[in-house]
Amino acid sequence: MLPVRKAVIPAAGYGTRFLPISKAIPKEMLPLVDKPVIQYVVEEAVAAGITDILMVISRSKRAIEEHFHPAFDLEAELEGKGRTEELEGLRKLQSMARIHFVWQPKMGGLGDAILYAREHVGNEPFAVLLGDTVVTTDDETRPVTRLLADVVERHGGSAVALQEVPLEKVSRYGILGGEEISPGLIRATQFVEKPKPEESPGRLAVSARYVLSPSIFAHLEKTPKGKGGEVQLTDAMASLMKEEALYGLRYEGQRHDIGNKLDFIKANLHFGLQRADIGPALREYVMGVR
Ligand code: G1P
Repeated sequence: MLPVRKAVIPAAGYGTRFLPISKAIPKEMLPLVDKPVIQYVVEEAVAAGITDILMVISRSKRAIEEHFHPAFDLEAELEGKGRTEELEGLRKLQSMARIHFVWQPKMGGLGDAILYAREHVGNEPFAVLLGDTVVTTDDETRPVTRLLADVVERHGGSAVALQEVPLEKVSRYGILGGEEISPGLIRATQFVEKPKPEESPGRLAVSARYVLSPSIFAHLEKTPKGKGGEVQLTDAMASLMKEEALYGLRYEGQRHDIGNKLDFIKANLHFGLQRADIGPALREYVMGVR
């Protein structure tokens, strides 16, 4: 099997759950302490062994491009002032991976966004990391994208990260059903986007991370609009599943969905409390909040 080297980060959605801030500022650029959400996503991809990233963006998302683009004037300014720590941080940001951009001209759903990556990805398996969600695991050196890549490099096909959700929440997610072939690894037989609880194949929800076979593109191309009038990646994967294996991997970890206000604030606490500079004072503050 080919190694997974490329990733696609869809970051073109309107972010309507986070208006008004998301009108002019991409939700992917909201800060978790002092780094935008999408930088955490890129760092996770790099820790998973990804060396090439394509971001799918749209109008009002240019700040993302600027964030990952070199800023030589700013570097010269920092160098002149001897601010080496900040300078190192900026240089690392630009050298982590090769980062490319493509525009999704019109909102058409996650499946439509992924289709714009077709030429760039070519004929090799690739990761998809949703740009508004940070996924943390206990072992930072083994992010969930790495675990999915291991499954695909070993067994072929495609793999998605799964988390169990309560039945009343299945209608917010892609839900996968199938047979557990080894602890935590499920061979999928059903995959439904945002089912009603009574029609759901279970409670295992897709959780913002995928490693896909390039055969997905041919299926995306013929996938009609589904839930919400959008081309759903889940529907294309359900179609691909009839030809190639689809695996689901349950992982131990936390999903921070930044497009959601409460999770955004919780995520800031999560990352803030871990920081050596502000963690202790933040902890003291939070303990005293009524
Ligand atoms: C998307 C996917 C869905 C998945 C969810 C969380 O939905 O379509 O299958 O479960 O992300 O990863 P969205 O939250 O964009 O509506």
